[in-house]
Amino acid sequence: MTGFGEGCGESDAAIQVTFHHAADIRRSHNRLNNPFITAKERAIAARIAAAAGGAPRDGLDIGCGEGSNLSYLREAMPGTRWAGIDFSSAKVGFAREIHGDGFALACANALALPFADCSFDLVVCRDLLHHVNWNRAGVLAEAARVTRPGGTVVVIESHGRRLLGRLFQWLVPAERGGRDSVPEALLRLAAEVGVGRLEWLEASFLTRALAFFIGWPRRSWARTAATLLYRAAEVWERAVARLRRQDGWTYMMVVVQPDRAASASGGTGGEHVAGDGQGHLRLA
Ligand SMILES: C[S@@+](CC[C@H](N)C(=O)[O-])C[C@H]1O[C@@H](n2cnc3c(N)ncnc32)[C@H](O)[C@@H]1O
Repeated sequence: MTGFGEGCGESDAAIQVTFHHAADIRRSHNRLNNPFITAKERAIAARIAAAAGGAPRDGLDIGCGEGSNLSYLREAMPGTRWAGIDFSSAKVGFAREIHGDGFALACANALALPFADCSFDLVVCRDLLHHVNWNRAGVLAEAARVTRPGGTVVVIESHGRRLLGRLFQWLVPAERGGRDSVPEALLRLAAEVGVGRLEWLEASFLTRALAFFIGWPRRSWARTAATLLYRAAEVWERAVARLRRQDGWTYMMVVVQPDRAASASGGTGGEHVAGDGQGHLRLA
């Protein structure tokens, strides 16, 4: 893959490649089966659909990982043709296995998307930017480039200065870029390619942090114990959502309407193209 790691310390890229080398089967199981998480995922997909303002014809998930995000996006926007890319061949392979050929999936770098200009109406970058922290602008420029005029780019990140986020950054070197995920920085980035607005998604990360550690157990006794913990976390999150001002929440979404003057590079306005000599792949 070209371009990955350009402009960063060698070790930053190497840390990401090592961290994402395998499919995270536990995370995927949890995302698709844990009712305390599935409810959140459906709510987020509905917010993304609302941000896209209708029924996009073509959608792209950049950094789609094991494909769970795509499966909720398809549920929320069933008429859309979905594509996903990820630089981890293991994750893309796993996503293909569990989602069949329902999505057009490819192994590719977010900094060099294998699509023609103006290929999608909706482009989603969820929990990706902090993994390409040395060139966030490059990721967003690529996302904007492949978005059709009038289309939408949605960027989702956790607030990098919250307690659980800090702890996570401290524990996991590949998450350290998260410290730069703050609303002002994301809005500044959006302004480089168009007009962005901030929306808050979730008040607290307690349930997701719990899911990171205990997942969704398969044994029934363990599941009962986990359910009690999740219910307690849910009560906490509801209280935080009521009491904390939104600018103190943890999960945020920036909705960007790319400005063609800033992002287009002589767009084809066309379909995903194959064999055109510019490295574009046919994905649909
Ligand atoms: C935290 S996961 C998020 C996965 C998915 N977006 C979600 O919300 O479930 C970050 C994903 O980005 C991928 N990734 C990191 N750097 C990338 C790059 N430069 N190009 C493409 N994918 C990348 C990783 O392999 C991983 O699957």
